[in-house]
Formats: sequence, structure tokens, C-alpha cells
Amino acid sequence: MSLRDVDIRVYPYECDAFGHLNQAACLQLLERARWESLAAGPGADLFTRNGVWPAARHTSIAYEASALPGDVLRVETETVKRGTTSFTLRQRATRTRDQTLIVEVELTFVCVDRIGRPTPVPDEVVRSLGMPTGGREVRRLRVDGGELAVEIRGSGPALVFVHGFPFDRSMWRHQVAGFGRWQRIATDLRGFGHSAGHGGGPAESLARHADDLALVLDALNVRRAVLCGLSMGGYVLFEFWRRHADRVRALVLADTKAEADSTEGRRARDELAAVARREGTVAVAERMVPRLLAVASATAQPELVTAVREMAGRASVDGIVAALGAMRDRADSRELLAGIGVPTLVVGGAEDALTPPDVMQALADGIPGARFVAIPAAGHLAPLEQPLAVNRVLSDFLDALPADD
Ligand code: MLT
Repeated sequence: MSLRDVDIRVYPYECDAFGHLNQAACLQLLERARWESLAAGPGADLFTRNGVWPAARHTSIAYEASALPGDVLRVETETVKRGTTSFTLRQRATRTRDQTLIVEVELTFVCVDRIGRPTPVPDEVVRSLGMPTGGREVRRLRVDGGELAVEIRGSGPALVFVHGFPFDRSMWRHQVAGFGRWQRIATDLRGFGHSAGHGGGPAESLARHADDLALVLDALNVRRAVLCGLSMGGYVLFEFWRRHADRVRALVLADTKAEADSTEGRRARDELAAVARREGTVAVAERMVPRLLAVASATAQPELVTAVREMAGRASVDGIVAALGAMRDRADSRELLAGIGVPTLVVGGAEDALTPPDVMQALADGIPGARFVAIPAAGHLAPLEQPLAVNRVLSDFLDALPADD
């Protein structure tokens, strides 16, 4: 698919002393055509509303014929290539009067965030620019008492992502967008994101989420997977280990802990559940935001605060209340740790206020052969705050895994 064609007129001030459209003006004209196409289609704010900017990295241009003042050029723009963080557009400008090809250009852009770091091309940009989706599919899977939204990308050995509270699978978007040699599977737990139903009473909720993951693996014919869980996602993985250890190839425990809630923590869960019932799910996120992100993330990446609110806004009150009850009553998982016999990576923000580095170090120390890696300038949402650093650590871990039997 391509962006809309736009017609652009050449003006005298864009031409050289011999009256031909000059080089610099030609590039500007093509740029104007790109913005006009966006404005006429997905909107000129397509990039900013997705928290990225397309930074030009490479341009190749072929001038085929000259254009003169008054000529109207029809500019066609199409996407010809897509990488994880980059995409390439081709533009062709043809004079409408006689169909002469004037210029053809190929431009490669890298999506950067506000502080200039390359960042995966957002889904909306992929869709709007008609880029190949890289085998992306969102399946709805019926489970007893609910329906799960499961995002699947690519093919290869399975790599499963489980979100924390009160988030959804989009918190793993930078990881799901990368790791091209893996089949990435990210599920919205019941009651969160685009999944329906909720986890049920506190006693069964985490177990039900864990069983849902096993059903997802069944539905995709996956026998064993590498499972990554952040915070509550980690609690779900402890439950998964209790119930389905034979399906775990390796574990990535992100910004999480093994111990159960303290008495004070349990009381806070009940208070938060009351907030959810009284004021809704976004209010729950508002209470958590001040402790979720590293200082640098909250100031330099304000869109992360918006993303947290949006994720909480997609959760249902029942889902939130069920998850709070489940976390409040969850078992202490420390007794499991010594028996975890698969390669395990513990990774988390060096500034995580909810599961601080010493807690994560203790978690890694309890699991035979496990390693803790602290991600600088990240808080509790390290995979969203510092995606490149997290992906590097995850990639090293995955590369070192023994072959699956
Ligand atoms: C999460 O991110 O999942 C929560 O912070 C977990 C918790 O509150 O224990």
C-alpha cells in the first residue's frame, strides 16, 4: 500500500537561474508532499501522537528531467522496506502535463524517541504507511469464562511476554517488535487490555492466568517456551512453574519479587481495590504513577505516563479488583526458587521503587545459576523505559540458551 498521491506546483522561487527546479527546493517539495499525504490520510501528527519522530538517515536521489515554474508534479509515495526501528519510502514525482518522470528518491528513516534513541516503528505507523507487518496477528482465544487477546509475531522458538499490573501486552511492545528469530507471543491477561473476563476470586486468579498461558501455548502448538513476566507477570510465572514446569524452557523475571505481601501491603491492596470500585481503573494508575518510573523517564518521556494511564483505562474494574485480591493473597514463592532448574535471567530497573535492585538480586541469588542485571535510568517499567538496554540483555540471554531438546 502507498500513501495518497499529492499534486504539488513548482514556483519560480524554487528554480535556478536557468529556470529549472533546483536541488534543494526539489527535496523540500518531496518533503512537503510527504506531509501533505499524511495530512490527507492518517494525520500529520501520526508520528508525534505515537511518541516517535522519523529521523532521516539515508537518501538516494535520481534527477531524471527538469521541471519548470508552473509545472504540477504528482508525487507518489510508497513504503518499500521495514526494519525494527527503520523504514524506507520511495517517492516518484511525475509531471502531470506529459507524465514525464522528474525525480525518484529513496529515503530511509529511523524512528527516534524524544531523547534521540532509535525505537521500534509503532504499530499505527506500520498500518498507516502500509508496511509489511512482519507476520503480526492478534488472535482471540476463548477460555472458560473469558476471552484472551493474544498477539503473535514471527516464527521460530516461542518467547512469551506476560504483563504487570495494571498494564497490558503493549508494555512489551519494544520486545515484541524485536527478536525476529523468535515467535513472540504477548497475551492480555483476563480483565486487562483487550481480553474479557477476569481472574475470579483471589484464591484462583493467578493460577487461572497461568492456566490461560498454558492454553495459549496449546493453541499455538508450542510445547516449551521462554517466558518473560514483569512484576505481576512474574507472580503469574511462579504459578506457571508450580503447575506447568515442563513447558518452561527458560525464565525472564523482570521487576518482580518472590515474597508475598506484608500486612501493610495487603491493606494497601484493599485500599486500591476500593479506589478502583469508587473512581475507576485510571485512578488506580494515577496512584501508582509516582512510583512506577525512574525520574529521568518521567521527565524526558512524558508519553510513558500517558501509556500507563491508557493501559489502566483498558482494564476492567473487575479485572483490577480480581488481580489486587490475587496479589494480596498470593503464596510466598521463595520456597520454589532453589528448584527452578531452567536458565533464568532477573532483570529490572536500577531505580525500581517497587521491586528495588536488592530485592531482585536476592531473587536471582535464590535461583541456581540465575543472574541479575540492573538497567540504569529505569524504574519499575524497565522494558518500556529503556527498551534498547533491556533488549540487549535479553538478547544476550537468549543467544546463550542451550538448544531446545
Ligand atoms: C506490577 O507491576 O505488576 C505490580 O506493581 C505488582 C505489585 O503491585 O505487586
